[in-house]
Amino acid sequence: MEEITLSNYTEEINRRRTFAIISHPDAGKTTLTEKFLLYGGAINLAGSVKGKATARHAVSDWMEIEKQRGISVTSSVLQFEYDGYCINILDTPGHQDFSEDTYRTLMAADSAVMVIDASKGVEAQTRKLFKVCVMRKIPIFTFINKLDRDANDTFELLDDIEKELGIATCPINWPIGSGKGFKGVYDREKKCIIAYSDTEKGTKEGTATEIPVEDEAALRQVIGDEAADKLLEEIELLDGASAEFDLDAVRSGDLTPVCFGSALTNFGVEIFLQHFLKMTTTPLSRKADIGIIEPTEKEFSAFVFKIQANMNKAHRDRIAFMRICSGKFDAQMEVRHVQGNKVMRLSQPQQIMADERKILSEAYAGDIIGVFDPGIFSIGDTLCMPKDKFQYEGIPTFAPEHFARVRQVDTMKRKQFVKGIEQIAQEGAIQIFQEFNSGLEEIIVGVVGVLQFDVLKYRLENEYNVEIRLENLPYEHIRWIENKDEVDIAKLVGTSDMKKVKDMKGNPLLLFINSWSVGMTLDRNKGLILSEFSRN
Ligand code: G4P
Repeated sequence: MEEITLSNYTEEINRRRTFAIISHPDAGKTTLTEKFLLYGGAINLAGSVKGKATARHAVSDWMEIEKQRGISVTSSVLQFEYDGYCINILDTPGHQDFSEDTYRTLMAADSAVMVIDASKGVEAQTRKLFKVCVMRKIPIFTFINKLDRDANDTFELLDDIEKELGIATCPINWPIGSGKGFKGVYDREKKCIIAYSDTEKGTKEGTATEIPVEDEAALRQVIGDEAADKLLEEIELLDGASAEFDLDAVRSGDLTPVCFGSALTNFGVEIFLQHFLKMTTTPLSRKADIGIIEPTEKEFSAFVFKIQANMNKAHRDRIAFMRICSGKFDAQMEVRHVQGNKVMRLSQPQQIMADERKILSEAYAGDIIGVFDPGIFSIGDTLCMPKDKFQYEGIPTFAPEHFARVRQVDTMKRKQFVKGIEQIAQEGAIQIFQEFNSGLEEIIVGVVGVLQFDVLKYRLENEYNVEIRLENLPYEHIRWIENKDEVDIAKLVGTSDMKKVKDMKGNPLLLFINSWSVGMTLDRNKGLILSEFSRN
């Protein structure tokens, strides 16, 4: 076994960059990820369209299989090398498989890349995921995509991000036209344009033509008079109006650098990747009950951020995904599972791709590993060296947005029903609530994504032999009462659509049909503090 020396393991950690990609479905997250992989040499695409189709096929097959098995869809982790960096991309599942896991994945990332469709601006799912990034104060990098199609006005796009998301923007480059008139981007630092040419389509070899804007004759010749006039005018406006670049503000999540491009035609992707890598952070330190743990500390530690049940039906196995927070992990070593108070070897440590698993012998802070879980891990659990015993700060519970009352078809199977539903809730696939003043006889299930309802039904039937009926409830907003010790829940004056419930730990919560009612209830009960996350 290779000996761990200070230099080789800190070097390994410092070259890691771990980020999540967030976007609304169809903004181009998959396409952009594939282009990143292309630059990293992880995949070899003959042409973007063909490569994309093949890659997609593999992913969707995997998802179909998972659906048939009735389990949630994996968020995959991709690792690739680029320019000396070791990059981990965490995919955040969207569409109907959007679930709490999507939020939890963001807890394991050190920064986020936000992909926005240039003809749409900020959309619903981006808004939701963005909130979690803000809560964690992680840097956010924006890629405005699909400039090869007609796009919204660039100033309006930036304005939209600032107003909708409340984050300042700093364009790193600037698009020259869009759609049929897309000519390339202007690099604000180098003060030159990088001309868009079809030759780059789907390959990484295409040569970009760089022309300094000072050379106005050449500029006009390449992009034409009309585009040149507009660009020169916009540069002037932009230099006067936009936020100054400030790396500290980027690192604290207060300013997002913005790049423009077209993932499909592979324009502006490598430029974005290079800027991103220069600005994003090495693995971040994490808060534990004994203080801050630095990633370069020699001792291994990690926390579980996601549990995937039944990846292999034949074995009824579960995979616990963990983010390594410090040191080096070696498959041979013993680690302590703090919450279980047990020293053990992690079983079958692996790197999970969309459709492939690779057994790992070592990994470093910043990496994500999946390990076989015989049912002992819970979300938020800490792993560390046998001699240590500390716990990382827990993962918050995120507000579900869909609710249903659960009824058993055969009331004789009460025990299995309670066991099943509690276990599935413990894995974090669903949240369960009860009427505030009653016991387990009346169960309300809350989920972030509606697919989770099907998952629950399927799994209870298949794994616990319990048939259930779900009756949808109209609630869409849930709030934890943060100052529950100071509030007399019985005396709360709510709105007519408000319902009082409690979670499995007995924490009081309020359910609302309208978002308006949340504000109204706050107005009517001075001193009440409500939260969309629970850290208990
Ligand atoms: P997602 O992961 O964010 O959901 O988006 P994805 O990459 O799957 O892209 C959604 C659609 O947008 C795809 O088209 C994709 O080809 C297209 N797309 C992505 N980036 C660009 C871009 O820069 N320009 C243009 N014009 N289109 C882009 P589709 O027709 O839904 O899928 P497919 O048939 O191409 O696979």
